[in-house]
Amino acid sequence: MYDLLFRHVLRRIPAEPIHGVAFGAIRGVAGSSVVGPRLGTLLTESDPVLRTRVFGVDFPNPLGLAAGFDKDARGPVALGRLGFGFVELGTITARPQPGNPKPRLFRLPEDKALVNRMGFNNSGADAVAARLGALPREGRPVLGLNIGKSKVATPDEAIDDYRHSARVLGPHADYVVVNVSSPNTPGLRDMQQVAVLSPLLEAVREELVSAVAGRTVPLLVKITTDLAAEDVDAVADLTVRLGLDGVVATNTTVSRDGLRTPRAEVDALGAGGLSGLPLAAAAEAVVGTLRAKLGPDRTIISVGGIFSGEDAYRRITAGASLVQSYTGFIYGGGTWPRKVNRDLAALLHRDGHATLSAAVGSAT
Ligand code: FNR
Repeated sequence: MYDLLFRHVLRRIPAEPIHGVAFGAIRGVAGSSVVGPRLGTLLTESDPVLRTRVFGVDFPNPLGLAAGFDKDARGPVALGRLGFGFVELGTITARPQPGNPKPRLFRLPEDKALVNRMGFNNSGADAVAARLGALPREGRPVLGLNIGKSKVATPDEAIDDYRHSARVLGPHADYVVVNVSSPNTPGLRDMQQVAVLSPLLEAVREELVSAVAGRTVPLLVKITTDLAAEDVDAVADLTVRLGLDGVVATNTTVSRDGLRTPRAEVDALGAGGLSGLPLAAAAEAVVGTLRAKLGPDRTIISVGGIFSGEDAYRRITAGASLVQSYTGFIYGGGTWPRKVNRDLAALLHRDGHATLSAAVGSAT
């Protein structure tokens, strides 16, 4: 039914306003203090086999909402109540910015994909920190905060720009992700080169240590599948050398290969990052590469083309400690996280895994 609706109705309506309406409805219903908690109980799969402890943080289940859906921390509690085990907010930049001109978000229903060139539209680190500061601890899901470079920051200013976000947002984060992999901020992906990335990550870590007393905020880096194999290896080596907590892989791709949507239609959408099902194979492959390099102790958060419990299970057995989705949730709707978690729990039981962590990397 949802599928039919997507194919015939929603594709004719611009994607971004629909997203706004849907998120508004989620906040209105799941975010309300009357219905919200009850809905949370209904939609949260509570099978203990899904619980996991990663970088010192307890997760009720391993399925997170990927960065980009709630860039501004407008509804993390409501999103958590849909059954996500964690929510990654952002990307947040040091300065507020409007993002790229609209339209900038498009659906490719035949491919179960999206193309976006949002360009980090967000209200800036200070405003997001204020919003998070007002959020009661009680009922808050596990929160990752994903930070990126302000568009106006020059390459020379980039490190200070990230430092500011880390300083003001770190105290509100269960973990922080340095995003250097969006295709929609000019020059950003060049920062995946180790010579640039190394001082950046060290600076962010230093900032987190001084901004957050009494606990260590886990720090991860988010990469794209568009990196050459040797660059993935280099980022993994750097993660180990700097003692970072792990890698989020992957962001959207600039590739348009292998799509069912007619080429002319795809080209007419213009530039942007492709997400969803077409990313799945590359995102799964990179988990194995990273796990081999990172060893058993670092965290891999696998994201890209996860649409089912089976997809999540495959990523976990390939070596992912946690998984995330954005496009699968858009196509699957509000009850989708529960279904994925339920199916994932069944697969864990089927294969005799007493805990989720026992399944991590078990296929390798
Ligand atoms: C994203 N993604 C993203 N990632 C990120 O690190 N910061 C961001 O601001 C955004 N923004 C964003 C907007 C939109 C509209 C989409 C579709 C995606 C990327 C996202 O977090 C994820 O890495 C990819 O979408 C791949 O996962 P899925 O969508 O295939 O599950």
